[in-house]
Amino acid sequence: MDIADLLRPNIANIKPYSPGRTAPIKLASNENPLGPSPLAVAAMQEYASQVLFYPDPVCAELKQALAEHWGVDPEGVVIGRGSDEIIHMLGLAFLKPGEQVIYSLPAFALYPLTTTLMDCEHVQVPSKDYTHDLDAMAAAITDKTKLVFMNNPCNPTGTYVTQGQMDTFMQQVPEHVVVAMDEPYYEYVDVADFPDSLGYVREGRNVVVMHTFSKAYALAGLRLGYGIAPPALAAGLKLVCEPFNVSSIAQVAGVASLRDPDQVERSRRLVAEGKAYLYAQFDAMGLHYLPTQANFIFVDIEMNSVECFDQLVQRGVAVRTGHIFGDEFVNWIRVTIGTQEQNELFINALREVLGV
Ligand SMILES: Cc1ncc(COP(=O)(O)O)c(C=O)c1O
Repeated sequence: MDIADLLRPNIANIKPYSPGRTAPIKLASNENPLGPSPLAVAAMQEYASQVLFYPDPVCAELKQALAEHWGVDPEGVVIGRGSDEIIHMLGLAFLKPGEQVIYSLPAFALYPLTTTLMDCEHVQVPSKDYTHDLDAMAAAITDKTKLVFMNNPCNPTGTYVTQGQMDTFMQQVPEHVVVAMDEPYYEYVDVADFPDSLGYVREGRNVVVMHTFSKAYALAGLRLGYGIAPPALAAGLKLVCEPFNVSSIAQVAGVASLRDPDQVERSRRLVAEGKAYLYAQFDAMGLHYLPTQANFIFVDIEMNSVECFDQLVQRGVAVRTGHIFGDEFVNWIRVTIGTQEQNELFINALREVLGV
């Protein structure tokens, strides 16, 4: 018998995640080249011999530390193996087959994956001017809508929606819809009108704000993220949370990271400086790029991004090709802002490839 015949029919067409080829200078996954806080590294080393014990199944210390960090009720905090797992939990807890999930295109891969896994209907709303079209997303809500994914700042464009735009959108969201505000790049935002999404949580709206330790905190390999929601909504997510989902090493590293605001500040500075350098270089090369609120820049290189990628990899640099985000982005690349040295090597390689 063919194994394919045994699979749930709705998952038959899922394409396995493609990590892409890499290179010594990896500017492809929006990681933080400064690395984690020394406090986190020390906590992990110190705890290494304790891994014979199962971790705290409810992550009490980390939840408390996050609740204090954000000024929220610890009962509203849900910890996952990366924010990826919170996205899965949202699907498992809330999505019934046939319900609708709304997300903007280009989308982070986990949104369509979760929608498909739960056998739900994809409602894909194309971006306008490279950012979420909130009017169209609000207009797409129906009685069958259960979940809206809202990635802000948006990956891969780096654009963002403002507090005013989000308020207008939220006024149109009915009670039967859960809004997942996915903000993995939050720590890099440097504009005053970025939404205070926890404000919606405090108002008791059906909102889950998702954050991660993978980006500014530089713990991507540990897999640690979390959601903050009104306690009743968080309780729903906890029903589908595996016991012991988060390792003890990840828990202690998360707590230690929160005690080191300098590490985040250094990372913010690196991104701000790298952003200014890369903007100036792209301007000098006459390339169109999108101003970013994250640690990556989406840039139109005016050549096929897959060919450009191959040639950059030969020169030791890996980026993300735009074609995976849709046909209209085939000439775009997404480059993570690295150290100054990495940024310069990338620019030199790109100049060679483009002949400018
Ligand atoms: C938009 C978006 N959401 C969620 C994530 C997941 O982050 P993690 O699972 O590492 O916390 C990422 C990571 O790249 C992302 O870009």
